[in-house]
Amino acid sequence: MPDKILITGGSGLVGMRLSEMLIDLGYEVAHLSRSPGKFSHYKTFKWDIKEHYIDESAITYADYIIHLAGANVAAEKWTEDRKKEIIKSRIDSAGLLYKCLAESKHHVKGFISSSAIGIYGNSGENLMSEESTYGDDFLAEVCKKWESTAWKVKELGLRTVILRLGVVLSSVGGALPQMARPVKMFAGAPLGSGNQYMSWIHIDDVCRLFIRAIEDTQFEGVYNAVAPHPVTNKEFTKKLAEVMHRPLLLPKVPAFALNMVLGELSEAILFSQRVSANKVIQTGFTFEYAYLDEALASFYEKKA
Ligand SMILES: NC(=O)c1ccc[n+]([C@@H]2O[C@H](COP(=O)([O-])OP(=O)(O)OC[C@H]3O[C@@H](n4cnc5c(N)ncnc54)[C@H](OP(=O)(O)O)[C@@H]3O)[C@@H](O)[C@H]2O)c1
Repeated sequence: MPDKILITGGSGLVGMRLSEMLIDLGYEVAHLSRSPGKFSHYKTFKWDIKEHYIDESAITYADYIIHLAGANVAAEKWTEDRKKEIIKSRIDSAGLLYKCLAESKHHVKGFISSSAIGIYGNSGENLMSEESTYGDDFLAEVCKKWESTAWKVKELGLRTVILRLGVVLSSVGGALPQMARPVKMFAGAPLGSGNQYMSWIHIDDVCRLFIRAIEDTQFEGVYNAVAPHPVTNKEFTKKLAEVMHRPLLLPKVPAFALNMVLGELSEAILFSQRVSANKVIQTGFTFEYAYLDEALASFYEKKA
């Protein structure tokens, strides 16, 4: 019997690609969603986080739970209400999963939660490992609370893994299409000083890491999910322009302009995060896309 994987937020960017890759490997996949009525190829259970409700059969279905759900951090300006939604959608959902796992009879063997490298805050050129100090800005606070709630699942005797995701590169959503749009229109430019580090990961590699966390029982604890060669925003924009065969004509977009348009959300673009992949590499994991050129080429260069 193939293992059954329950994915919260499975309808999102990472969840959709991960579901495809799991199915290709012979797993059974179901999603836990706020809107199970939406068209989906996957068996979908309902939850309502605000009402503290989960369809109980979701928990009894699962051999592994992958927790990806959370209000999109970059979709809207960070008003006080939006900030509450960003926090509560992650913490209340993780808390609800914990409660259901504690109270129901189930056969879940492992719990794998996403988190983000935002936990390290604005860390300049320092290479941040899993043991590094945390930031104290909004995103760092979100991640700290998110992880401490997810971490409670370990108290139930379940193998628990937390993956701190870097900027996930995909051609169908997330940061890359937004960065590519101005470049395509001959209006690409580095953001802020352009010297801030971006720790990125190709969508297929992040999904392979989630799968590795299911399959390798030695995986336990916290891992940075980033490619081994982070680049500055300036380098990123330059390589993106190269691969898209566009010139970079415009001057840098000043930080104050981004701040005026995006408010506090501009931190997500202007903060520097240079994050180490060493712990994951030491587990024997190999990246299909270790270098940015290869990752970008996989999206933008026509295959022969
Ligand atoms: N993509 C990145 O670059 C990146 C980087 C660092 C960390 N992460 C984290 O990794 C996780 C997966 O990323 P992703 O890019 O796949 O996210 P995504 O595309 O935004 O999808 C997240 C899913 O969460 C559910 N969701 C949305 N708003 C919610 C809310 N208010 N309450 C509860 N559930 C909600 C939705 O599923 P339903 O509508 O089916 O409920 C949605 O499909 C997220 O938690 C994200 O913060 C992503």
